[in-house]
Amino acid sequence: SSHLFDTDQLSKWELEEILERAAYWEQNWRPGLGPYQGRFVANLFFEPSTRTRFSFEVAEKKLGLEVLNFSEEVSSTAKGESIYDTVKTLASLGVEVAVIRHREEKAIRELLTRDTGCTIINAGAGKTAHPTQALLDLYTMKKHFGDMTGLTVAMVGDIRHSRVVRSNLWTLGKFGIRVILSGPDSMRDFELEKIAPYYSFEEAIRQADVVMMLRVQLERHDEKLFSSAEEYCKNYGLTGDRLQMMKPNAILMHPGPFNRGVEVVAEVVEHPRSKIFEQKANGVFIRMAVLERALGGGRR
Ligand code: CP
Repeated sequence: SSHLFDTDQLSKWELEEILERAAYWEQNWRPGLGPYQGRFVANLFFEPSTRTRFSFEVAEKKLGLEVLNFSEEVSSTAKGESIYDTVKTLASLGVEVAVIRHREEKAIRELLTRDTGCTIINAGAGKTAHPTQALLDLYTMKKHFGDMTGLTVAMVGDIRHSRVVRSNLWTLGKFGIRVILSGPDSMRDFELEKIAPYYSFEEAIRQADVVMMLRVQLERHDEKLFSSAEEYCKNYGLTGDRLQMMKPNAILMHPGPFNRGVEVVAEVVEHPRSKIFEQKANGVFIRMAVLERALGGGRR
């Protein structure tokens, strides 16, 4: 099927095809070019989002799609309608693709095993999967480095609660990229450390070609995992001094939204080595490629 739940379902060949289509759209899109006119897609976000929600919407509009934006509070899910029935209802209205974010991974997974009539794109599922983020991260790295074989990516911070880490692990491995992890002990994930080794923050920074800082995900913490923003920043924040320890051609990434003064400081967010805003721009092209795939097109 052309559902997209996570990056582990995509072969290296399929990943390369998505990167190529994203590059195609980045180079060739111009106003008025909307090859998917008259076809409908719906965005259903059951968890807050700025980047993913709006970049999907921009991508959809650039492709010429008709876009329906679903709001949980004013929909019949507020009267108890299930997500399955909601998506099936949208399909009966002519919607072909449903882009869904949900705090419960199983809410999205369930849709993949039943016939809703829509192709599902996961826009963020609980702590498990955020495939379009990993794809735009991969695209950003490819644009900077070209051949990615042998690179080291250090993911630093709230590893345990990060769907971004998980989805990135499944893509980076296929491109021969080594992944290392760092962050506070209270946010480590010992299962993931079987796949990607843990290093001290300083060692991770020194080894990395990409330093990927992760947001401290307070909304997913059941208990207090750090004492204060100041303390976190002192121990695990990317400061100007720490940026100086990075390899000469290394870049800084962060999926956003970032907490300035916690995991990153203001001066590094806008530093020339920061690709944070380029990541957001790249997200549009990657989502155009992913939408095309869901619509059954995009193959050359
Ligand atoms: N990176 C990301 O998923 O951001 P949003 O939560 O704002 O969509």
